[in-house]
Amino acid sequence: MKKRILVLNGPNLNMLGMREPGIYGTVSLAAIEANLNRIADSWNVELQFFQSNHEGALIDRIHEAYGTQDGIVFNPGAFTHYSYALRDALSTVQLPAVEVHLSNIHKREAFRHVSVTAPVMVGQIAGFGAHSYELGLQALIRHLEEKGD
Ligand code: DQA
Repeated sequence: MKKRILVLNGPNLNMLGMREPGIYGTVSLAAIEANLNRIADSWNVELQFFQSNHEGALIDRIHEAYGTQDGIVFNPGAFTHYSYALRDALSTVQLPAVEVHLSNIHKREAFRHVSVTAPVMVGQIAGFGAHSYELGLQALIRHLEEKGD
């Protein structure tokens, strides 16, 4: 059975490619998603993608994932640093999730050093640009296999 994984992106990530390329690179979100879809078959997973600039829409999508997805690869964008509501949504559905960031949030401004969402994730990957998503997906798949789900 193929694992079903939701790749979720928060605010401003729809602007990847043109957004502060010195920090986030020049690869668009569409290109990141296309790359993940390209490898999904060989990794035996089925991917769904969702991006929103709105906290409530992200919460709704997390709730929808309950019972329909096996796990979540999640870049919450700036919500990482202050959204207790997104953190609670993840705790509510209890789905294994991996947090990904293009940039290494730990070597940027102090407000980015805190992730309020990371404590309810399996783990966090940060600093590898667009490749962070591939690493996050791989880590989540390995986690699901180890759990024997
Ligand atoms: C980000 C890091 C966040 O601090 C920032 O607000 C983003 C992108 C990243 O992928 O590096 O929107 O999540």
